[in-house]
Amino acid sequence: MQSNDPIQIGLAGYGTVGTGLAQILLNNRDWIFRRLGREVRIKTILVRDLSKVRSAIPSPETVFTDRIEDLIDDPELDLVVELIGGYDVAYRIITGALRSGKSVVTANKALLAEHGPELLSLASRNNLGLSYEASVAGGIPIVQTLKESLAGNRIKSLTAILNGTANYILSEMTEKGLQFEEALDMARKMGYAEADPSLDVDGIDAAHKLTVLIRLAYGEDYPYRALSVEGISGVEPYDIMRAKDFDYEIKLIAQVKEKSGSLQAGVFPALVRNDHMLAKVDGPFNAILLEGNAVGPIMLYGQGAGDLPTGSAVLADIMTLVNRKSFYNNTGFLETSLPKASILPSELTAAKHYFRFTVQDRPGVLSVLSGIMGEHNISIAQVVQKQEANGQTVPVVFLTHTAQLKDVTSAMHEISKLEFIKAPTVHYRLL
Ligand code: NAP
Ligand code: HSE
Repeated sequence: MQSNDPIQIGLAGYGTVGTGLAQILLNNRDWIFRRLGREVRIKTILVRDLSKVRSAIPSPETVFTDRIEDLIDDPELDLVVELIGGYDVAYRIITGALRSGKSVVTANKALLAEHGPELLSLASRNNLGLSYEASVAGGIPIVQTLKESLAGNRIKSLTAILNGTANYILSEMTEKGLQFEEALDMARKMGYAEADPSLDVDGIDAAHKLTVLIRLAYGEDYPYRALSVEGISGVEPYDIMRAKDFDYEIKLIAQVKEKSGSLQAGVFPALVRNDHMLAKVDGPFNAILLEGNAVGPIMLYGQGAGDLPTGSAVLADIMTLVNRKSFYNNTGFLETSLPKASILPSELTAAKHYFRFTVQDRPGVLSVLSGIMGEHNISIAQVVQKQEANGQTVPVVFLTHTAQLKDVTSAMHEISKLEFIKAPTVHYRLL
């Protein structure tokens, strides 16, 4: 890519992000030319359904196809951009393009989480770019920040809101009292949700992104399936209200911490205090709070999903690759394959906790519950029995001081067997 000829892009996928990219290329054409000295053109677009009516087409010369060979085998293409998502076809496009000498830009965190080591190593061995800024946190430049701007720091911890759909749903439930399904439906209409939205609400999408970030922050490969992952589909309006009473909001948190050379990481809904910076991140916005050993705390905040924010990150990768002359270093580390991470089990995590027990309303219940918690080294900070008894059961909410997750697990196990416990206990960590 040395001449002043237009840069010819092969684009796989023309949905939310693909059309967003095309729109930015059109709106900012002169600006992009000023920076690159070359035009960026979408020559070919791969889609699934050629009969679909497309509202905006990049240019009259753009060709739509349903054959991946039209991207992989076209010698006139400078770059391939994969915005299909999923595994099978996306994998074939990326590996095919890299094997035929084309650098690739992708937003596909699912594929990067599962097959990242293999794909990144294939790109490095071919001295090609495999760029993925848009794969994590939409428009927020977190990949570049970890790879370059914070390259000299040891990252002590990273705590983030990485799924716009889940954050949007929780914000709508908290602020407007919407039901879960109602808020999810809106997130789908806005183009935030994955093709399979269970990936968003079950915490899997955030886990995919966390895996990508761990690689960039620690230079280690943390197998995605080793993460402990819990989603938001079980979050009930009752707990959102109780959290509010205590000045907390429920957020889906992705977190990794470094402890004595090992990593502790997971995705979980947590109560975040209203004065914490992450509590102010609402709607489809994402944020990443980092603690570097030189820079100290840093927070990046922006839109984590949607056509233009995500298209913005894809375009940044395209423009960076065009300007690169040689040596593609796609993880920010010199190794072609990264070492495996040393993983600390999540049971060793220490945090404050929220419990909601549904108990039979009778004398002595509170003392039994607090007695069991005391035996498991869990010290109670607050207890609230907000709702009047309905004659049968009553919810009792406990907030604790810092306690080990392993102690919480064993106390919950013991409590679950008590005859006055009438429903599964609700448990969240506090941030
Ligand atoms: P989308 O709106 O569902 O669009 C997917 C596009 O891929 C469609 O144009 C579809 O073709 C095409 N496609 C799907 N399967 C195909 C197949 N087997 N062969 C050929 N084409 C196929 O998806 P999106 O929201 O733009 O997401 C694209 C990628 O970006 C995903 O990896 C996603 O995780 C990631 N991402 C999305 C966002 C976001 O806000 N949406 C943000 C960050 C990252 P048809 O048009 O013919 O159906
Ligand atoms: N479905 C994803 C989200 C898109 O809601 O965050 C951005 O990766």
